[in-house]
Amino acid sequence: MTEPDQDELKRRVARAALDHVTEDINPESVVGVGTGSTVNFFIDMLVEIKDSFKATISSSIASTSRLKDHGITVLETHKVCSADVYVDGADEVDGSRALIKGGGGALTQEKIVTSMSKHFVCIVDESKLVDRLGAFPLPIEVIPSARTVVKQFARSIGGDPHVRTGLTENGNIIVDVGGLTIDDPGCLEQTINNLPGVVTVGLFVAHRPDLVLIAKRDGSVASL
Ligand code: 5RP
Repeated sequence: MTEPDQDELKRRVARAALDHVTEDINPESVVGVGTGSTVNFFIDMLVEIKDSFKATISSSIASTSRLKDHGITVLETHKVCSADVYVDGADEVDGSRALIKGGGGALTQEKIVTSMSKHFVCIVDESKLVDRLGAFPLPIEVIPSARTVVKQFARSIGGDPHVRTGLTENGNIIVDVGGLTIDDPGCLEQTINNLPGVVTVGLFVAHRPDLVLIAKRDGSVASL
């Protein structure tokens, strides 16, 4: 039997997330929607149940436009107090469900929506599972004038910082920090968040997912 390719894994885990969302929603529900290629499969399926909830809030312009293309209502985040459920991908997941996110650059809005959501379901394929976070370069959204001091800090903890090309949707830059071995992600999240000029670090520990769904190459979907 041939193994499913990566898109098929993303499709399967998106389907499993849709089943969870179906249990969490009612006609008044707001559904939080993340960003990325895995979430795109989820958005394309969400249309199947679009009459079973009130609206969505979205973590990026790209997801907003995909949702709207499907005729799904997207509310402005600041007009909403909470979401019943949030579905998003990740770049790395460890065994305690701590995440690195922000490969797609949407980390700040993703963290805002995560913080507003009663139930965070993270969807990944098994290539994202790690024993220790840090092989994926850690994204940090930074106000441009703070870039030098944030890069200095990154070097002081053994990292190799690079400024990503382009600006975020908030008009800031992203510093990607490679070469890290993150032993205490919760502590590092707090430390980086406290640096002046840092908007968001792509460590999701304080707001880690309640459930991680993992599509495996053997065709199953596991839960963490
Ligand atoms: C975007 C993210 C994404 O969730 C993360 O990059 C995973 O994306 P993909 O599903 O395409 O692998 O954090 O900022």
